[in-house]
Amino acid sequence: MQSDIRYPTIIQGGMGIAVSSWQLAKQVAMAGELGVISGTAIDSVIARRLQDGDPSGDIRRAMSHFPNQKTIAEIMDRFFIEGGRAADKAYLDVPKLSIKGNLFSNNLLAVSSFVEVWLAKEGHNGLIGMNILEKIQLAIPAQLYGAMLADVDYILIGAGIPAQIPHLLNEISVGNKVAMKVEVADTKDKHYLHFDPTTLGIENFPVKRPLFLAIVSSHALVAYLNKDEETKPDGFVIEYHVAGGHNAPPRAKNAIDENGEAIYNDQDIPNLEKILASGSPFWLAGGFATPAKVVEALAHGAKGVQVGSVFALSNESGFTEENRSSVLNSLADPHMRVLTDASASPTGFPFKVIQNNETLSNDSLYSKRMRICDLGYLRTMYQREKGGIGYRCPAEPLDNYEFKNGQVDQAQGSKCLCNALMADIGLGQRRPDGRVEISLLTFGSDLEGPRAMREKYPNGWNAVQAINFLKEQISHQAH
Ligand SMILES: Cc1cc2nc3c(=O)[nH]c(=O)nc-3n(C[C@H](O)[C@H](O)[C@H](O)COP(=O)(O)O)c2cc1C
Repeated sequence: MQSDIRYPTIIQGGMGIAVSSWQLAKQVAMAGELGVISGTAIDSVIARRLQDGDPSGDIRRAMSHFPNQKTIAEIMDRFFIEGGRAADKAYLDVPKLSIKGNLFSNNLLAVSSFVEVWLAKEGHNGLIGMNILEKIQLAIPAQLYGAMLADVDYILIGAGIPAQIPHLLNEISVGNKVAMKVEVADTKDKHYLHFDPTTLGIENFPVKRPLFLAIVSSHALVAYLNKDEETKPDGFVIEYHVAGGHNAPPRAKNAIDENGEAIYNDQDIPNLEKILASGSPFWLAGGFATPAKVVEALAHGAKGVQVGSVFALSNESGFTEENRSSVLNSLADPHMRVLTDASASPTGFPFKVIQNNETLSNDSLYSKRMRICDLGYLRTMYQREKGGIGYRCPAEPLDNYEFKNGQVDQAQGSKCLCNALMADIGLGQRRPDGRVEISLLTFGSDLEGPRAMREKYPNGWNAVQAINFLKEQISHQAH
């Protein structure tokens, strides 16, 4: 890595879906730290905002800078509704991702990633990253390319082992075709997603190759990814199991208690000495959201910290006002509970869920919701007995899942994160019977930082106030 790189002390974590909005990332970047937008399901986010009429005009302003305006015309034609959709109308969905690839999908993924990064970078020289999930493999190449077209500075990827990303970034940035190996269940055959950046009709190679930070939870994965130049990232975010969102599964087998909570022990704590000895720059995440924890991270040799929950509650995040104030109120309650739910996420990874009666964490609301898989980002590909590749999700209707050879006993508690997390940001789908999809809220389980902020700013805070708080005990000169 070049020696002139200026590393941030604070990374504002990528939080999906669109909780890490461009507005949040931009404020963080302008304050001199690394602002990160969430790229997860960003094609649906942009498509729905266009159907709501893009009232601020921000999306259309960003799209006017996209280097292929024919593509923009197609997207506008399909999704934009002047003045916004009628209140009783459902959103039109984007095409589901598929291994065959599809030019319209790739264009939409690239444009949406471009728009969000472009808006976050508009009007300043600060650093912007994009976070995506390794688990949503079919979206990755087109999203990387779209973000690069907007000059993204960092890519951050967790929720899986992102071993292919350095190679993809190297190749896509110079306009080469890539073949990304994808996971297909029920077979030993190898399958690849093919992506050719030149098919998007933009002759602009090379584009800047961003730095890549892998989000992992163990020193063993640091060593594994660093072993080969092809898989070696430019740095690591080391995420502890108290972090919000998805967590790495506990290393011990069957470590689930009677409440369905994943249970961690000392084996799950990363060895920071080994990570420091690897020579890679790293940041610590998960409960590193107080001034003292920032100092502690630096003392371990980290470049700084990645913080999520405190930024999720800031005024600029994508959460609806209702969700933000509901979480802020819960923080005042000493009994607030964030469960590391072992079965909620269709990914199979533990997922942090705030126990809140107004959301899908309430069993009665959950059981009343009709299962449907219409967004499909978390579907797994599988080998069909009759040949060909099928797609299944444990949160889809159970009879469909069973028909596709899915393990129904393990799908009982699975929740449709796609629809619930769209609801968290006010883009929930409206169903034919008039019901609107219900939220499910994720948050870190170490509440010390968020509670300290709430005490300081009982009516809420902005991103800059959060950064100033985190950096209270470190001198600006030293870093
Ligand atoms: C609402 C929310 C959504 C999150 N979504 C993602 C995500 O999509 N991808 C990801 O890599 N991390 C995600 N995270 C994790 C954060 O990026 C960050 O690493 C973590 O929150 C740090 O722990 P903290 O919450 O204790 O600060 C999410 C966290 C929260 C609170």
